[in-house]
Amino acid sequence: MAVDVVKVALGERSYEVRIGPGLIARAGAEIAPLLSRPKVAIVTEDRVAGLHLEALMAGLAAEGIAAEALVLPPGEATKSWAHLQEVVEWLLAQKVERKDIVVAFGGGVIGDLAGFAAAILRRGVRFVQIPTSLLAQVDSSVGGKTGINSPHGKNLVGAFHQPSLVLADIDVLGTLTPRDFLAGYGEVVKYGGLGSLDFFEWLERNGPALAAGDAGLRQEAVRRSVQMKADIVARDETEQGDRALLNLGHTFGHALEAATGYSDRLLHGEGVAIGCALAFETSARLGLMAQEAPSRFRAHLAAMGMKRDLADIAGALPDAEGLIALMGQDKKVQAGKLRFILARGIGEAFVADDVDLDVVRSVLLDGLAGR
Ligand code: GLY
Repeated sequence: MAVDVVKVALGERSYEVRIGPGLIARAGAEIAPLLSRPKVAIVTEDRVAGLHLEALMAGLAAEGIAAEALVLPPGEATKSWAHLQEVVEWLLAQKVERKDIVVAFGGGVIGDLAGFAAAILRRGVRFVQIPTSLLAQVDSSVGGKTGINSPHGKNLVGAFHQPSLVLADIDVLGTLTPRDFLAGYGEVVKYGGLGSLDFFEWLERNGPALAAGDAGLRQEAVRRSVQMKADIVARDETEQGDRALLNLGHTFGHALEAATGYSDRLLHGEGVAIGCALAFETSARLGLMAQEAPSRFRAHLAAMGMKRDLADIAGALPDAEGLIALMGQDKKVQAGKLRFILARGIGEAFVADDVDLDVVRSVLLDGLAGR
């Protein structure tokens, strides 16, 4: 299978997202043109290291590139001040210089953390993303959002720092658990929901085969998702406008993640998928779209075997007021008003700043009553 290339067009900070099989094994050849000397520092985590670090090291060594790796614990807790300090001090101990490259090798946690460390190390060094989860391939590795969590909330400390290259190796998706794969698929289906009915219909036709392992379909889903993200980021790198569309489902989703303690009860992509369904439901109740649209969206999630309702979240949840309060903690609050991404149909999302909270409350009350 050929490698697809999506360009993120940001002037002198433009870069390519290369998508295809075998990219980790070829990482040396892919990265070598960026290097000022044959040496990189890799930041990764335990699970990814166990599965793929040897292959990456071999791929780099094949081009004579020396590499050292820092292996961190897996999980969201790693996106912390303490681990940021560990990464930065380790990179300094490795004598990483301004012209060197840091490699972020892992899922969204590692990409965000290593990217932020690269952003602040010596006032900014370049980095390459090698995302190993579906979620990271289609979302977090592209677009330059980097950062860590604070005790005040997720992603509250960070910087925009674009990678110099993204290598999305489709083969690694085969090592994900079905649950992790489908959680990443929550972000894939989000792209259909926010900007392309055509892509959503493609997912309706191909989603099950793609989840079952069809590599060609997986590559196409990643390519189309990344293309949509690249187009939005090129228009609005720092989220002054359109980029907020990428947060479809996230206001609800973040509240649900907070309500479940950022635990295994609800993975981020699962929260996004349920959040998209709730955003469509809210849009329908506001008269923006026909009721068929949220039903169709949820039917696709059901066909994929994904969580789609509040009823699918195990264990206790706060009441509707409690969930609305958690939405208020979301960093996308502007001047005290909750920002939602709503839609006029599947693929037609827009930013809404003055949503009637009574409608949101009624959607949540009904969802909670169904539990
Ligand atoms: N994940 C949303 C964004 O990159 O803007």
